[in-house]
Amino acid sequence: MTNTGVDMLMPFRTLIRQKCGVTFKNDGLHALESAIGKRIASLQLPGHDEYLKIVSRDEEEIHLLIDLITVNETYFFREKQHFDLLCDTIMPQILAGKKDKIRILSAGCSTGEEPFSILIALIEKYGMGIKARVEIHGVDIDTNVIETAKKGRYGKNSFRNDEHILLKYFEKHRDHHYHLSSQLRECVTFNVCNLLTQPFPPFIRNMDVIFYRNVSIYFDRETQQAIFQNLSNLLNPDGRIFLSSTETYYHNVGILSLKQCGDIFLYHKNSVAGAGYAKKPMPAPLPTPAVAPVVATKPSPAQVVLNTNQVQTAPKLVVKNQDVAALFESALADAEQKRYASAIARIDELLRIDVAMLKAYALKAGVLINQEKIDAARAVCHEILARDEWNLEAHLLLGVIARVKDEHDEAKKMFKTVLYIRSTCWLPHYYLAEIYHAEHDFAGAYREYGSTLKLLETRGVRDHGLTYFPLSFHAEQLIHLCRHHMNKIGGLHKKAGNS
Ligand SMILES: C[S@@+](CC[C@H](N)C(=O)[O-])C[C@H]1O[C@@H](n2cnc3c(N)ncnc32)[C@H](O)[C@@H]1O
Repeated sequence: MTNTGVDMLMPFRTLIRQKCGVTFKNDGLHALESAIGKRIASLQLPGHDEYLKIVSRDEEEIHLLIDLITVNETYFFREKQHFDLLCDTIMPQILAGKKDKIRILSAGCSTGEEPFSILIALIEKYGMGIKARVEIHGVDIDTNVIETAKKGRYGKNSFRNDEHILLKYFEKHRDHHYHLSSQLRECVTFNVCNLLTQPFPPFIRNMDVIFYRNVSIYFDRETQQAIFQNLSNLLNPDGRIFLSSTETYYHNVGILSLKQCGDIFLYHKNSVAGAGYAKKPMPAPLPTPAVAPVVATKPSPAQVVLNTNQVQTAPKLVVKNQDVAALFESALADAEQKRYASAIARIDELLRIDVAMLKAYALKAGVLINQEKIDAARAVCHEILARDEWNLEAHLLLGVIARVKDEHDEAKKMFKTVLYIRSTCWLPHYYLAEIYHAEHDFAGAYREYGSTLKLLETRGVRDHGLTYFPLSFHAEQLIHLCRHHMNKIGGLHKKAGNS
């Protein structure tokens, strides 16, 4: 698109962002241009200027434009683990403490697959009687999708998961569509509602659970925060919000607390007054631990643990001017030159000056791992987490440590946490692949090597999550390695299938 084209769309971008929060990046501008083009043609207007005048003052017209630009992709049981967690863990907790109906909202419900999945999952678990104990609401800004949702009529594309369960509840009609019985359709109410506009209508207040998945990805940070705040205001004191796994971490801005339930993260408005996000108090820094037993480490392409036979003694440090930045640089240089004892002494000096210096802890953990002082490194990572609960590097290093100690479940948990924090980080995918491979979970290994490969091919090697011990492998080598493993695993699968 030419610069003039981009400029011409600017007032429309601003208007749409103000009205519904959707933000267009440059690669999405063609979609916006095409929607505007359709409206101009439909109104038989001479051009963009005339349309801008109309759409700026006519609420109905802005809604027609919004209906054209929203992305409504959805399907039944998307991220099925969320429905399992709701039914198996969260519902029993809420049911135990509540006599009134349990209120569940699908915010940004699109054509209704998400709220109907909630209903079906609940019926599967608790039987038809559960209908009397829950109220399920779906809202969306797009008028067209709400009309479709009310009809409860779906094409094959909506059934990508758990087809057998779904087919129990749907009837195939001559039009080749699957129709939900009216008895079930009536259990979910659908309404048009803009999540950005306050106040919300009364029927969506006092929610116990909100599914707000795959909606916030289209908003900028400011809008994400505003809508998340709006939704948290809708929650009952013990309410929860589900987001999709790729967008969860972005909302960890202190509005609600992020909770981990097995592999799943969700936000919880604790019953504590105000439901704030309680920061833990800062503990004092750990003294440098005594030498921990040496643990045999595994060679790996993304090797964090470097062997050294050097015997070193810590130099006496005299920090006269407390030049923290320079001291950190010296510690880093020591670490890079494998003068580990000196590096640790400088880092401890730094931590005496600034007890909350997270990068000093991260460097120290890395140095300790390289010294094979694994338990001491683990303690330092926990120091980081005590100050920054969702620190990516600390989780990654804890995963590396758990892997070195053959604690596979713990390692997997840590690497999955890293991916919740930053889904584009390839190193945890690689480590997960290695663990699954070692456990002969070939499907898991294949998937994770594939994710590593995709990230390396599209984003390069830089986004690995470790700040201070850069990897000595090139993207091409890693890509080759992933392909090699995937070919091997593919072959194994075939063999298993033939035998
Ligand atoms: C990709 S769909 C997600 C559907 C479903 N939640 C899921 O995860 O499968 C995103 C939906 O968010 C809706 N949406 C976007 N901005 C909105 C807003 N400001 N208020 C309400 N809904 C909005 C869109 O119309 C679209 O239907």
